[in-house]
Amino acid sequence: MFEITKSTVINSLKNISNDKINTSSLTLNSIRKFEFNNSDLSFEISLANNSDEIKNLIVNQLKKDFNELKNVKLNILAKSTPTVSTHKDARKDAVLPGVKNTIAIASGKGGVGKSTVAVNLAVALAKDGASVGLIDADIYGPSIPLMLGSNDKPKVYQAENSVKMIPLESHGIKFMSIGLLVDDKAPIIWRGPMASGAIKQFMTDVDWGELDYLIFDLPPGTGDIQLTLVQTIPLTGAVIVTTPQEVSLIDARKALKMFERVNVPILGVVENMSYFIAPDTGNKYDIFGSGGGERICQELNATLLGGIPIDPRIRKGGDNGVPMVFGIPDANETKILMDISRKLTEQVNIRNSNASEKIEILLGDED
Ligand SMILES: Nc1ncnc2c1ncn2[C@@H]1O[C@H](COP(=O)(O)OP(=O)(O)O)[C@@H](O)[C@H]1O
Ligand SMILES: [Mg+2]
Repeated sequence: MFEITKSTVINSLKNISNDKINTSSLTLNSIRKFEFNNSDLSFEISLANNSDEIKNLIVNQLKKDFNELKNVKLNILAKSTPTVSTHKDARKDAVLPGVKNTIAIASGKGGVGKSTVAVNLAVALAKDGASVGLIDADIYGPSIPLMLGSNDKPKVYQAENSVKMIPLESHGIKFMSIGLLVDDKAPIIWRGPMASGAIKQFMTDVDWGELDYLIFDLPPGTGDIQLTLVQTIPLTGAVIVTTPQEVSLIDARKALKMFERVNVPILGVVENMSYFIAPDTGNKYDIFGSGGGERICQELNATLLGGIPIDPRIRKGGDNGVPMVFGIPDANETKILMDISRKLTEQVNIRNSNASEKIEILLGDED
């Protein structure tokens, strides 16, 4: 039996598995006014939604995990958006003051599903209540407008000292694409400098408003263009997308090392096209081998956020401009993608709360 403290309570709440409540991103900071006397516990907790059903779920879980509990008094501080921690970084605050976190989605190789993952994670985060923006920074093949089913020209307006662009909106997220600013017929050698200029413009001249997450779909690879971009963007961290076969893993390793070299935290690795389940027999086929994502995570001490199977509906969602997590909410693949987005939130919170929790631990667990 564990002692009842903020952190054991959080661990207990993380055991709740129910679609209506997302406890994966809870940190010590989510709980306030924590009081435990004899057998009575009371606290306040910030969660995305507040209902008697959620309250009961929490109380039941706590009573199950802590025998000695008799009374649980609980106040849920419901927010229209979930509590999203903020990456405190002077460079980010200077260019993107309204944006809490910036996340790069990167891969060593092209064609591994980086844009597919970026779009579905962005929409998944938004479905959980976060405000999300997505920047298509892939100068080799900007595909986000196609995947989000919107190719309009962004509107502009005259702000106080500059002209501002209004991002496009689709499926609950805001987005901009480099395809709108960079001439795709220009030789690649020119597109590099144009791209970092355009990315800067996306950060300074686009009216993003308040965002919990701004996600960048980076060009694949680890060359100069990627390095320049990574150093242009004040990043909370990066997610690496790979497929399980060795040729892809070699390049994923290079990408991980590139981020390490420039001190960008790796939030995790997503293994895409992990396996295929035959719809007629239910048999599972490891088309590109298995366990690759897990191996490089162990090797390089990164977190595996999850594995996404090959599913024709994921491809169709991309081609038709309706991301899987939006178009087919009940599919198992959607659950997998939602789960990956929640693990990502958790990793972001861990990075962001490190500093403040260190102070809290020094001061003791209580308020
Ligand atoms: N898990 C998946 N199942 C089926 N098709 C996928 C999956 N992931 C990506 N695809 C398809 O593979 C192609 C390449 O994906 P894309 O996201 O454009 O890769 P990248 O951005 O890395 O170049 C697209 O047609 C996409 O729809
Ligand atoms: Mg792409």
